[in-house]
Amino acid sequence: MAKKKTLFECQACGYQSSKWMGKCTNCGAWDSFIELTKEQIEATKELAKASPSQVKAITDIGEDRVERVSTHIDELDLVLGGGLVTGSLVLVGGSPGVGKSTLLLKVCANLAKDGKKVLYVSAEESSGQIKLRANRIEANHPNLYLMNELILENIIAHVQSEQYDLLVIDSIQTIYSNEIPSAPGSVSQVRAVTFELMRLAKAQKLPIFIIGHITKEGAIAGPRVLEHMVDTVLYFEGDSSKELRLLRGFKNRFGSISEVGIFEMTKKGLVSAKNIAKRFFDRKHTTAGSAATVVMEGSRPIILEVQALVAESGYPTPKRSATGFDASRLTMLLALLEKKLELPFNQYDVFVNIAGGIKIGETAADLAVIAAILSSFRNRPLSAETLFLGEVGLTGDIRDVMMLDQRLKEAASQGFTKAIVPSKPLQKIPLKTFVVDSVEKIIDWM
Ligand SMILES: Nc1ncnc2c1ncn2[C@@H]1O[C@H](COP(=O)(O)OP(=O)(O)O)[C@@H](O)[C@H]1O
Ligand SMILES: [Mg+2]
Repeated sequence: MAKKKTLFECQACGYQSSKWMGKCTNCGAWDSFIELTKEQIEATKELAKASPSQVKAITDIGEDRVERVSTHIDELDLVLGGGLVTGSLVLVGGSPGVGKSTLLLKVCANLAKDGKKVLYVSAEESSGQIKLRANRIEANHPNLYLMNELILENIIAHVQSEQYDLLVIDSIQTIYSNEIPSAPGSVSQVRAVTFELMRLAKAQKLPIFIIGHITKEGAIAGPRVLEHMVDTVLYFEGDSSKELRLLRGFKNRFGSISEVGIFEMTKKGLVSAKNIAKRFFDRKHTTAGSAATVVMEGSRPIILEVQALVAESGYPTPKRSATGFDASRLTMLLALLEKKLELPFNQYDVFVNIAGGIKIGETAADLAVIAAILSSFRNRPLSAETLFLGEVGLTGDIRDVMMLDQRLKEAASQGFTKAIVPSKPLQKIPLKTFVVDSVEKIIDWM
């Protein structure tokens, strides 16, 4: 008798293995493997099959023309690289309530007003619920069609029979294909649905937005496989309890990913946030453990508040926790403070938080993190008009940051009068600068 062939698949990243594993060797997720049924294995093979294509010399190939349409939402156009590319598949990810449905319904309405025919497919909310939102954000237009549907085949059949200029799928985790016998939201389903949508986008030159929910850890719930399949991946960041949201490009086959869209959630929906520099920073009075810095989001400077809490630890191994800041970088900075300044941080719990739900992705905020930690440790507030900029190296040296002048100009225009920096700015900026070249100097300054 032939041995039954088994195949297991990680529900977090789609990695397949002939053996069950407690921890995925590919993405590190725990307890994420499920055994695929015979039908699922067949379906996986089906997806892998591709028809043989023609081979040509690169010199004989003409380039694809990239056509773009404006969504009439400046911040979104910016992140997309100058507008939406026709025939592209764009994934918009974010945590629940961050504003994915709101933004894309508005995009639909804007294109509908341009004379385009638009279909919004929802497998999450009833048409009546979407209508309520449309009333609130002024998205009513006869060219905008709603479809309540869960089954992919029905959506594709309908889209093929009508000529649409834009399709929105809300959400990828709730739509399923009849051909795949596993539950909606599972890796096999999400992969198959995305694959079919990609084909549809290319065949009909139809731009498609797909909405995906992401888990707390920041991955699209279940399938990270999605990121590799689509043309563009945009993620929403921000606290759903606050109004400001960032839309960050994570991957873009048609543009750079350096720009970030900044939105504000208002009664009328998500609107481009004006005067953003100071929006994330609302420190009214200074308290110990708070330090200001400027990060660059694409080409735009944003002032952020770094908060730290240092408290005597009741544990043999003290706690370290960072929200919006790289946790291993925090550990490194603390080790450095311990060694260079001989501070007993091994007996203290340290928590660092970036106010406003923003994630800092650059090293220029290191000095502000150190300043906030020292301020909390000594229980001494820092001046509210002082700003900290600088990358901290492993040897305790403070290194230059890029676009220093631009950051300082922004800070000066927002009322900061002093800045602790690794080097003098090149231009004359109405703000006093103190140059520090090592972490020891910071203590002297304080
Ligand atoms: N009447 C309202 N006024 C202002 N904001 C609202 C109102 N109703 C809902 N919202 C905002 O819209 C958000 C929901 O956005 P939504 O687009 O449904 O998010 P997602 O699709 O990402 O889950 C809520 O977090 C809330 O902030
Ligand atoms: Mg939604």
